[in-house]
Amino acid sequence: MRTVDKGSIHPRSQRRMMQVFDGAALGPPPIWLMRQAGRYLPEYREVRAKAGSFLNLCYNPAMAAEVTLQPIRRYGFDAAILFSDILVVPDALGQNVRFVEGEGPRLDPIRDAAGLANLSLRKATTKFDTVAETVQRLRQGLPGETALIGFCGAPWTVATYMVGGQGSSDQAAARGLAYRDPTLFQSLMDLLVDASVDYLGRQARAGADLLQIFDSWAGSLPDDEFETWVVAPTRRIVAQMKAQFPDLPIIGFPRGSGPLAFNYVQETGVDAVGCDTAMPLELIRSSLSGKTVVQGNLDPLLLVAGGDRMRRRIDTLLATLAANPYIFNLGHGIVPETPPEHVAELVRHVRSYGRA
Ligand code: CP3
Repeated sequence: MRTVDKGSIHPRSQRRMMQVFDGAALGPPPIWLMRQAGRYLPEYREVRAKAGSFLNLCYNPAMAAEVTLQPIRRYGFDAAILFSDILVVPDALGQNVRFVEGEGPRLDPIRDAAGLANLSLRKATTKFDTVAETVQRLRQGLPGETALIGFCGAPWTVATYMVGGQGSSDQAAARGLAYRDPTLFQSLMDLLVDASVDYLGRQARAGADLLQIFDSWAGSLPDDEFETWVVAPTRRIVAQMKAQFPDLPIIGFPRGSGPLAFNYVQETGVDAVGCDTAMPLELIRSSLSGKTVVQGNLDPLLLVAGGDRMRRRIDTLLATLAANPYIFNLGHGIVPETPPEHVAELVRHVRSYGRA
């Protein structure tokens, strides 16, 4: 008798999430949500409490795999996203990173050449391999029909935290350093390009089906700087990944890029674009839909509100975007106040599309 594992019943190409990258417009479209694992789920808070610190959770493959699987068990999303954080990269490179309860990430800021000289990719590989082990466990533990997304932060967004030492609303520290000392800033970006390629490569070899590059602060730059610090480093990462893994789709998420998103897609070579909450639906329809795979962009706060208002907006998104290759998602991550039953209602409503 032939033994079949879950993977061979559902070869990668049969996962609905992957089919949009072959040009399929699916009704209903595949769905996953940014930050689908997290504090809005009681079972996450339980594991998080056991882990102690947030970074301990990221570096514990059994626990990280468990919290990745929690939203898949509840909602049956078409894709799981590896549980980790974009700030694992600076931590692994040797910068001091900690997460302060109720405040967010704190890092010892990189402000000069001496600070940069303390970081090295050589140091990072052990921690990167720990994350890759989580990916490997997930590939074993996920249902065959569920795609697995690996990710990293884009160099610009990661640099805003590395230079600022914490999150900020205007990314002034990084923008200032990029003007004051572009050579130093370029060296930091070069290191982050190399680290991202190494990190994503390990995730790909461990079994990730596709990747997302989070550029959460792409919207804080004027257009010439956007080209230099958002587009150019992302293009280098995409080119190096495509050279090694030609069939691995890459989603870019240039949050806040507005009308620059079309050039971003064209110039970086990403296979799909994550549209943020503020991206006008008419702009998505006219400049992106049908030209690349579109992902997005329900307001996470409308998911908190739920009800008719949410269902009506979902209907509008589907009516406008689902005739072309489309992945349903939010315009940014799920917030901790989100009632889990609203997520269930969202999934139910999206899945009823095209099945009437
Ligand atoms: O999406 C997922 O479910 C996968 C896991 C994931 C996390 N962070 C878990 C997390 C992913 C993909 C990220 C990406 C990330 N991290 C981004 C890019 C996307 C975005 O939201 O713009 C950024 C900018 C970060 C940096 C970061 N991590 C911040 C600013 C914070 C603090 C804010 C907060 O919500 O507390 C984190 C912490 C973090 N990352 C949490 C989770 C579940 C909460 C920490 C906790 O559980 O104690």
